[in-house]
Amino acid sequence: MKPVYILAIESSCDETAAAVVRNGREVLSNVISSQIALHTLYGGVVPEIASRKHIEKINPVILEALSEAKMSLDEMDAIAVTYGPGLVGSLLVGLSAAKAIAYAVNKPLIGVHHIEGHVSANYISHPELEPPFLSLIVSGGHSHIVLVKDYGVYEIVGRTHDDAAGEAFDKVARAIGLGYPGGPKIDKLAREGNPHAIAFPRAHIEDCPYDYSFSGVKSAVLNYLNQCEMKDEEVNRADVAASFQEAVVDALCGKAVAAANAFGYDKIALAGGVACNSALRQKMEEMCAEAKIKLYYPSPVLCTDNAAMIGAAAYYEYLKGIRDGLDLNAVPSLKIGER
Ligand code: KG4
Ligand code: ZN
Repeated sequence: MKPVYILAIESSCDETAAAVVRNGREVLSNVISSQIALHTLYGGVVPEIASRKHIEKINPVILEALSEAKMSLDEMDAIAVTYGPGLVGSLLVGLSAAKAIAYAVNKPLIGVHHIEGHVSANYISHPELEPPFLSLIVSGGHSHIVLVKDYGVYEIVGRTHDDAAGEAFDKVARAIGLGYPGGPKIDKLAREGNPHAIAFPRAHIEDCPYDYSFSGVKSAVLNYLNQCEMKDEEVNRADVAASFQEAVVDALCGKAVAAANAFGYDKIALAGGVACNSALRQKMEEMCAEAKIKLYYPSPVLCTDNAAMIGAAAYYEYLKGIRDGLDLNAVPSLKIGER
């Protein structure tokens, strides 16, 4: 069969990214221009600055992706782009570029759900992985347990009632003075701390065994820091980081493995930026080995925002004949499985 080449574009938050992907699994190029240094100044992503920066970067990043792949636009079979969820001003930059290219070279346009992209990153890192499997999606904006019943067919069985896991990492990191983005910094500092030093709470939500809540643990950390300050006690930041991380990882792993057992799934794929977390990976490895579940996670560069994952998700849409019109709009709060 003739190979399918997809040019994929991603600009939903603070990374401008483009990639060329062959047959959904083989990455020919994966260019990412990160704005992290810019937003660090403000302690978080500033939407207006993010969209302006995307405008500056989008064309160079797309050209670089094509040139690294040694391919031309004419050789592409489709143009894929994230159209939600995300920051509307950021999404619109990638979407407008994708529409303009699709129109100019007369190629099909395929809109991709950002989170479905995160799940599909596993198809690149694990060429043998096929649905059905359960995915624990943990990013800056999402904490979901999803049954991936087939390519592009999802059922959410667990979700967060308040903060996403990555959001909690970022907020706690800010509170202990680590800055943005917090997840990787807490991960690093936690290696020097004792995860059992402080007993932070794990939320149990009545009648929703697979749902999450991270605002409680976040508030508990803030209270702990306040109390130390009032008592004039020195804070061991490494212990706080390790104990907080332990509480979050405990909840994430426990509920994901319980859901896999309850729904009869023997494969779990981690997805999203928090899937980079070393404690999460380690605990998941241990729990999955015990429960005889096979664990998958993408390589670190494919866990955080990138366009290759969008190309992987788009390939399966392409095979199903899904095409979008030039009237495709950005949908900042797009739900998983929606079109
Ligand atoms: O998936 P992602 O790149 O963007 C969203 O779609 O949100 O995820 C970003 C999130 C941030 O909250 C960041 O702090 C977190 O992923 N993150 C981590 C780690 N690396 C990134 N959280 C914990 N440990 C890490 N090593
Ligand atoms: Zn993301």
